Amino acid sequence: MVTVGILTCSDAGSRGQRQDTSGQTIREMAEAQGFKVTRTEIVPDERTVIADRILRWAAEVDLVLTTGGTGMGQRDVTPEATRDVMEREAPGLAEAMRFVTAQKTPMAWLSRGTAGVRGRCLIINLPGSPKAVRECLEVVMPLIPHALETLHGPTNVHPAS
Ligand code: MTE
Repeated sequence: MVTVGILTCSDAGSRGQRQDTSGQTIREMAEAQGFKVTRTEIVPDERTVIADRILRWAAEVDLVLTTGGTGMGQRDVTPEATRDVMEREAPGLAEAMRFVTAQKTPMAWLSRGTAGVRGRCLIINLPGSPKAVRECLEVVMPLIPHALETLHGPTNVHPAS
């Protein structure tokens, strides 16, 4: 069973001034895939807070999906916070989301989201609207099972040189 943490990064959402419809969209799509959502939280667009949450959840869940804070706004720092705690980048996932979804929404190129691995946890940044979440998850969802399979596989032992 794949366990998932959904982290919504939004100043307005964290103050209760905006409903978290993107987080809800992620939950619905994750559950439709048979994943179990075990962590959800709405945090402000604060780099240290976002990084701290990803750091802690990476030890507890298989997959962290963030939503929001990937744009050009001064407060959009989710990719930076993610890089603060990821150990290995998986740029192809973010590239695929931008490339495929830009065919119908050129604005997709404006998302600075990234993806990567910490320990045995895969972390993926999604943009902040339910529409964008749906479009992007449709692209990467089919890739996630095999990504997690390899991530959870045996540690490579390199022959001594
Ligand atoms: N990607 C897809 N697939 N669909 C979208 O509608 N919106 C874009 C972009 N990525 C969008 C998308 C827009 S308008 C912005 S500003 C950026 O994501 C950043 O959004 P965020 O700051 O809410 O993360």
